[in-house]
Amino acid sequence: MNYRHLYHAGNFADVVKHVALIALIDALKIKSNPFCYIDTHAGRGYYDLLSESAAKTKEYEGGIEKIIHADQPPPLIRQYLHCVHQINNQLTKAKYASLHYYPGSPLIARSLMRPGDQMIACELQPEEYQALRNNFAGDRQVAIHHMDGFLGLKAFLPPKERRGLILIDPPYENPDEYERIAQTLPIALKRFSTGTYGIWYPIKEKATLTRFYRSIEAHINQPVFVIELTIYPDLPHHLNGCGLLVINPPWQFDQSIKKILPWLWNGLSINKQGSYQAYLLK
Ligand SMILES: C[S@@+](CC[C@H](N)C(=O)[O-])C[C@H]1O[C@@H](n2cnc3c(N)ncnc32)[C@H](O)[C@@H]1O
Repeated sequence: MNYRHLYHAGNFADVVKHVALIALIDALKIKSNPFCYIDTHAGRGYYDLLSESAAKTKEYEGGIEKIIHADQPPPLIRQYLHCVHQINNQLTKAKYASLHYYPGSPLIARSLMRPGDQMIACELQPEEYQALRNNFAGDRQVAIHHMDGFLGLKAFLPPKERRGLILIDPPYENPDEYERIAQTLPIALKRFSTGTYGIWYPIKEKATLTRFYRSIEAHINQPVFVIELTIYPDLPHHLNGCGLLVINPPWQFDQSIKKILPWLWNGLSINKQGSYQAYLLK
């Protein structure tokens, strides 16, 4: 397990994923009953963009850095940027800190949770797990587990709140990751059929994605909404873009994300290459 998210933190794919995450949590919060957020591949919580590792790739320059100073961003983006500013202000103790840290999905979700909401986060890599645990030490609304996120799905579903969002964000280091998702989802949905599931994926080879969609269509009975954003045309062996499959999309999520994708693509695409789309797969 060589993957370290620090090398990629704040890149365009993180921006898309985290904006969509906020839209999903906002949609859940339309109802007042508490929800449970489950992060199967949580990472360390936040990332130091000025660290040696992040400086090697500087992927954040093509992501968060491109939009952090946007003039009059739409409300959803303002909310997202607020999360980014919040962690920088807290850690640097400055009121208007510049971009030094980038929040990961658990921190972003936590900042949106209400007093009755709960989070369960799994992380398998020992150092990342320890960092995540330290970040949430003493937080009674958050449970951190050192375990395989796919096994976590089986262990923690259904949540006692019976309302929830599950983010599945594996590193896709192994070619069998898609297969593992397609095999695990039906089991998870059997335990918690009404949950909303967000599955992030990279857009590289078209053939891999076509196989992935086919197996989702074959194994999942619930509605599936797809969001995709690419910043390059179809370059071989390259991260051209990313997507999020949303199973059981919450009410109004499709509208809010469709409104925001053109703004994101304008801000993140490279010389207006690539494209975006959002549609109901089934
Ligand atoms: C893409 S990163 C997660 C980023 C995080 N969700 C975010 O948006 O900020 C994937 C994480 O999964 C961890 N990981 C890899 N295999 C795992 C597994 N089987 N179960 C749980 N975590 C795993 C990696 O160590 C890495 O921290």
